[in-house]
Amino acid sequence: MSSNTIAINQQMDHFDGHHSVWVFGYGSLIYKADFPFMQRRAASITGWSRRFWQGSHDHRGTPAAPGRVVTLIPDEGAVCHGMAYLVSPDVFTHLDYREKNGYLRRVVDIAFEDGSGDMAEGVVYIAREDNDSFLGPASEADIALQIAGSFGPSGPNSDYLTQLAVALRELGRDDEHVFAIEQHLLELIASKDGR
Ligand code: SIN
Repeated sequence: MSSNTIAINQQMDHFDGHHSVWVFGYGSLIYKADFPFMQRRAASITGWSRRFWQGSHDHRGTPAAPGRVVTLIPDEGAVCHGMAYLVSPDVFTHLDYREKNGYLRRVVDIAFEDGSGDMAEGVVYIAREDNDSFLGPASEADIALQIAGSFGPSGPNSDYLTQLAVALRELGRDDEHVFAIEQHLLELIASKDGR
């Protein structure tokens, strides 16, 4: 599958006629809401795990030297915590562009984490392993090394990782994979500084 997913995503008609749609964010969408929204609520989805397995050629790396960003991998019973936004459907023009490097919209059941027990059907952007930019698994140490050396139009890849880790802590959520990569990155920086 081509890594530019804009045309495919525009074909989604599942929410046609809706005046608002929930979008679940689990990566940069948690901490960078550069779009208008009507509500924002901490939320989770079940059956998916967050992994730094997607290549970034357009935001946190370049085509010659891709960075690594998160996608979701099917994982029965796993709960992925993030942030849900209620948006007007016209926001999808912006989101499809932002997530165009391999991410496909997918319908998902979102559980809100305010103790209300509320659920809603919504959209999540997932970069599947059949997209051209998918990099796949690597050790957390190697992922940190790649992130430490990558930079793209949206800034250093390390900022993406650090901001995601901070946002997850603010949500009060643990993510062993993200925090292990962050720890490796901190060690790399410390060893570079000669500490
Ligand atoms: C998301 O945040 O939900 C998708 C991945 C990203 O943009 O980092």
